[in-house]
Amino acid sequence: MNRIAVFTSGGDAPGMNACIRAVVRSAHYFGKEVIAIRRGYQGMIEGDFELMKPHSVSNIIQLGGTILRSARSQDFKSSEGRKKAYENLKKENIDGIVAIGGDGTFTGANIFMQEYPDISMVGCPGTIDNDLFGTDYTIGYDTAINTAMNAIDNIKDTANAHDRLFFVEVMGRDAGFIALRAGIATGAEAILVPESKTDVDNLILTLGQSYKKKKNACIVVVAEGDDAGGALKIAETVGNKFQEYEIKVSILGHIQRGGRPTCMERVRASRMGIEAVKALLNGQKGVMVGVINDTITYTPFSKACKTHQEMKADLLEIAKILS
Ligand code: F6P
Repeated sequence: MNRIAVFTSGGDAPGMNACIRAVVRSAHYFGKEVIAIRRGYQGMIEGDFELMKPHSVSNIIQLGGTILRSARSQDFKSSEGRKKAYENLKKENIDGIVAIGGDGTFTGANIFMQEYPDISMVGCPGTIDNDLFGTDYTIGYDTAINTAMNAIDNIKDTANAHDRLFFVEVMGRDAGFIALRAGIATGAEAILVPESKTDVDNLILTLGQSYKKKKNACIVVVAEGDDAGGALKIAETVGNKFQEYEIKVSILGHIQRGGRPTCMERVRASRMGIEAVKALLNGQKGVMVGVINDTITYTPFSKACKTHQEMKADLLEIAKILS
């Protein structure tokens, strides 16, 4: 292996900087030069590269976002775009890459490696959604659920002061992991996720029971990708049939993508970054590094992004029993 490159792609996630730092420092530790690619695949096509030294990643472990910036590149979807990217990598003598991102990133990596097998790519899972198969936790998820939890705690204060029913929408385009954990942690009355069909009549029944129990406020956490629509739509449907509480909607949005990574996030991202470099040096390619039951795993890109892990049945049960 000559030179190793690192980039971040897709939606940014807290902890990506810790992972970049780990890649740069461990590659140097093992005697390899590192090139950073800015703005993901788009930067690869445009040759937006920078030689990294160990000190280039000083003082970033605590920062949210990504110092390499990110993009969702349309140009990389065309074979001309990928050809340009390949030529730029060759010019820089790069033959190993650590890609930090989510399913779009690994889908792109898979196609690229089939076309250009002399470039080895290994992935680190970076997305707040936790929607990749082959890891218990993605980089960014732990911070995002804590951000969502803190925001919902604040909403509960005001909801209780005014006897209101709040629909709080959290991120998760295709997955309800943020909603499930943040909902349990805040004692939400109901949690709506894309993985299970939302029954609005049943939801109204649950809310009616809460009202009868004299709860003076209710929180319903809604994953953005829920099958019944987002929080606004569900709130409107419920509001037409259930008027016991005044209804409010709060969409947390991108607040969940930023902020300082938690301790677990930094440690996990550091571990994954080092393991990705080791995997490349050991001749692995086309795999995503993950952590399952605290053990490092490698999952082929095609499998990592085809589906995501199942929601833990015990967590779903906790949510049901405690609501
Ligand atoms: O993939 C992470 C994520 O934050 C999703 O939860 C969300 O749907 C999406 O990215 C938003 O992406 P963008 O910032 O590009 O609108």
